[in-house]
Amino acid sequence: MGNLAVVGLQWGDEGKGKLVDYLAGQFDAVARFNGGSNAGHTVVIGEEKHTFHLVPSGALKGKELLIGAGVALDPVVLREELSLMPGRIREKLMIDGRCSLVSPFDKELDVVLEQMRGGSAIGTTRRGIGPAYAMRALRLALRVSDLSDEPDFSAPSQFYSRLGVDPTRFAAWVEESKLVVDGLVGDVSSRIIDIGQAGGSVLFEASQGTLLDLVHGSYPFVTSSHTVASYVPAGLGIPPSEAGEPLGVMKCYTTRVGSGPFPTEIKGLTSDKIRSVGNEYGATTGRPRRVGWLDLVALRYAVRLNGVKNIAISKLDVLSEVKEFRACIAYRHTGSETRDFQRSLGHLHEVEPVYESPLSMQGAKYDKELPTQAKKLVEYLEAALGVRVSLVSHGEERSRTIEL
Ligand code: IMP
Ligand code: MG
Repeated sequence: MGNLAVVGLQWGDEGKGKLVDYLAGQFDAVARFNGGSNAGHTVVIGEEKHTFHLVPSGALKGKELLIGAGVALDPVVLREELSLMPGRIREKLMIDGRCSLVSPFDKELDVVLEQMRGGSAIGTTRRGIGPAYAMRALRLALRVSDLSDEPDFSAPSQFYSRLGVDPTRFAAWVEESKLVVDGLVGDVSSRIIDIGQAGGSVLFEASQGTLLDLVHGSYPFVTSSHTVASYVPAGLGIPPSEAGEPLGVMKCYTTRVGSGPFPTEIKGLTSDKIRSVGNEYGATTGRPRRVGWLDLVALRYAVRLNGVKNIAISKLDVLSEVKEFRACIAYRHTGSETRDFQRSLGHLHEVEPVYESPLSMQGAKYDKELPTQAKKLVEYLEAALGVRVSLVSHGEERSRTIEL
């Protein structure tokens, strides 16, 4: 088995966490390559629910856990997360020294920037992710490796001091962070290459979704890192040849948390139903997620951007509780119809979805095999997106997964 990259095809929360946990058994390691503690990956085992923000979702399968250089690492969150997990998970963890750190001051700045935007706030998770990546671009960030060397942190300290942060608070945070990463720092890019050379393989786990990509998503209502498969090698520091096949994950409806255009958004009883059955609340912030119908226009764009040939559908059981099923096949704008998502990006808030209702999933029951309704939906999606559906997840539990 070669490497594999699990990427989200929508606005995040596609169910990547469950899928990574399910697939992790076949790999030697699981690696995060983007984002930070804005992510919330949920894994359910029996009665227990685990939410990962920084630790890769393969943790519960006892795999090697790698946090690559593309991740923005918040040591305070990592310490909390590790304290809730068995000690052996810490022993499996390696953090790349090139990861930029997220500080409490980045979080404060995140809040101030959101307030400044007023009515056009992005609705960030307030985890300081945007400011931390901005610090990296300004060449002011502290990196994980700085915590083990004798760092010169006068520049970032001065920067925050100009924003009103007491330098002693900054120094205290640095000291605290040193303790968190002690013994965990390594060279993740070399480790991935070594695993491959020894005949092993790595599962790459994306955070957020394609439509939240900093450049290719619905800018400015996006996150501040790259969420697409092409960032796997850049984020980890490995050649594109090692980036593995991308596996796209999607739900057969859409959710979005935070602000920004959402062409197929619905409000009212049906969206409330989907939200409650699908437990569509942010795993990081607890915010109710906005809910909408399946958007094939956006998905075709995501499939193309990621070069995805295989797809995993998650949470298909949710639609068993819903009478109607709609799929948006085109957008209408100023009297004409288009299927071109990229050209629609500039006026996404003005487009009107054109729907078809090819089937209903109501009452579909899942066992070892897909029910007829679900088989039809799979065929419909394969034709609409030009992909193969290779996995269907129909519940939170590991066992509620059907391979096709
Ligand atoms: P930030 O990543 O916290 O800066 O937030 C920017 C946008 O991305 C907001 O709309 C967030 O709600 C959204 N976002 C960030 N992380 C996630 C995630 O893991 N799932 C879903 N949405 C996310
Ligand atoms: Mg999530």
